[in-house]
Amino acid sequence: MCGIVGYVGSKPALSILMDGLRRLEYRGYDSAGVALVDGSGVSVTKAAGRISVLAAQLTEPMSQTTGIAHTRWATHGAPTDSNAHPHTDASGKIAIVHNGIIENYRALRTFLDKKGVKFTSDTDTEVLAQLIGLSYDGDLEEAVRRALHDVAGTYGIAVVCADQPGLIVAARKGSPLIVGVGKDEYILASDAAAILAHTSHVVYLADGEMASITRDGLQTTTLDAIPVTKDIEQVEWSLDQIELAGYDHFMLKEINEQPTSLETCLRGRIDLSEGQVHLGGLVDRMRDLVHAKRFILTACGTAWHAALVGEYLFEELIRVPVETEYASEFRYRNPIIDEGTVVIVVSQSGETADTLAALEEARQRGALTLGVVNVVGSSIARETDAGVFLHVGPEIGVASTKAFTGQVAVLAMIACLIGRRKHLSASNAAQFLEALAKVPDQTRSILDQADEAKKVAERYVDRENWLYLGRGYNYPVALEGALKLKEISYIHAEGLPAAEMKHGPIALITEGMPVVCIATKGTQYDRIMNNIEEVRTRGGSVIAVATEGDHAIEELADVVLRVPDTLEPLQPLLTAIPLQLIAFHAAVLRGCNVDKPRNLAKSVTVE
Ligand code: M6R
Repeated sequence: MCGIVGYVGSKPALSILMDGLRRLEYRGYDSAGVALVDGSGVSVTKAAGRISVLAAQLTEPMSQTTGIAHTRWATHGAPTDSNAHPHTDASGKIAIVHNGIIENYRALRTFLDKKGVKFTSDTDTEVLAQLIGLSYDGDLEEAVRRALHDVAGTYGIAVVCADQPGLIVAARKGSPLIVGVGKDEYILASDAAAILAHTSHVVYLADGEMASITRDGLQTTTLDAIPVTKDIEQVEWSLDQIELAGYDHFMLKEINEQPTSLETCLRGRIDLSEGQVHLGGLVDRMRDLVHAKRFILTACGTAWHAALVGEYLFEELIRVPVETEYASEFRYRNPIIDEGTVVIVVSQSGETADTLAALEEARQRGALTLGVVNVVGSSIARETDAGVFLHVGPEIGVASTKAFTGQVAVLAMIACLIGRRKHLSASNAAQFLEALAKVPDQTRSILDQADEAKKVAERYVDRENWLYLGRGYNYPVALEGALKLKEISYIHAEGLPAAEMKHGPIALITEGMPVVCIATKGTQYDRIMNNIEEVRTRGGSVIAVATEGDHAIEELADVVLRVPDTLEPLQPLLTAIPLQLIAFHAAVLRGCNVDKPRNLAKSVTVE
């Protein structure tokens, strides 16, 4: 939820660090800071607020060629100047930036208090800074190593020291760190977005590893000082993919990217002539997947909604029991994992703490684990037994959009792949895949009518309570539509399986209340039409998402947004898009910061 950048090389570090921070601001944005180091000492500047507030304090040219920087999403301690990172030890010679949570920080703080250490912040990170300072006897790497042995919790850290000005010591456990390898320079970051302007060659640190980085080289070891040889890998994303490219908001850019992101996601993976799916990441696990007795899909937020669509798809195409679990609940429920249970974790970032913890729980209980992940090299991608990447490109807007459709598309392909080896006939599989192959073009036609969604936002933007109703495959879409609206426009919205409305929420409906009903043609059509009648009878204003050519809906709905016809299991790939657009325009009209909504961060790396 926070972002780390570090630079060591021959160029002035400050502008590289500030550029990196701006590119990472989507990960956390309540305070930021920078520490620059040279033989004369460590110079720390930090400020509560956005990066621009920090930038305003850093107008003097600075020539130091080593530095670390941080953008914060507060966990321990309010977002104030003093709680912003970097934090220093008592001598002021050592500075640290940290992502994660030091779980035993209270005990460590008591220990340090007794030693007479004076603290200047309320953070767990300062405890680590002081501990490193206490362990320091002239060798920064050793001091970090010793301090980390006393620490319980998660961390990605970068540490500098005035006595060794051309050195950054980094370490990770449960929080990502990547080292960009340039020519005589290294850029350390928690996310490739901060590195891509300099190099696409990277080294991914694994959990329990440390790196000592100077402009002359990178030494990697375990926390116990055993050398580790790392490969230099290529990041598949390019710089232009993480830029706004003429848009004012990443969210709109990413909504509009869906025709191409879905094309890339499907490319080379579906064979229409044979009715077959090819997913390289699953080839070695097909036997286990075909013989699986049960699937558990686990995720958080939008990814959980995609997983719920996956549950319906798996049940229909594979015909085995499937459950979708909130990752945050799964690990604390003593889940039953029998032989033959496959756990699939779904995550855009691959770094969500609860999802990672659920994965760990599943692994410990002996399940085969699969990842459905977007970020290559992420923790979930590395720790699952096998998996499938989304290949939808980087998602920067906090509100997940193209990742949702990518996740659903991947789950649809996995369902078809396994189903085909079980009960799914070649002709049914071919029909399914033909419909899937048409989806990217169909999303294009929805985006061509984006103005209609904007008009909905304009008409209802002042209403503070909305309902979203769906049935079957469109029930998860109702949940997703409501989440999109609330997280970026701060309008209260609730998503429901349409029939549940009668069991309580119908009491909320008053004259003119916007009720978004996903009423596409399919097995649930007549039933949702009944629900629409019930809403109208109570004065609710119906915004229907309906199939092109369905004129009956016009009689009942106040507004109709159209999507092309497709197979029912694939409808979420289309029906989600008008709801993304409504949320986007409502947020813009309300003057909200669409890409960086309050209290949120892109990747939730704390429990
Ligand atoms: O990176 P992940 O897919 O694991 O993230 C899970 C959720 O935090 C994420 O989908 C969140 O709900 C989005 N902000 C919703 O738009």
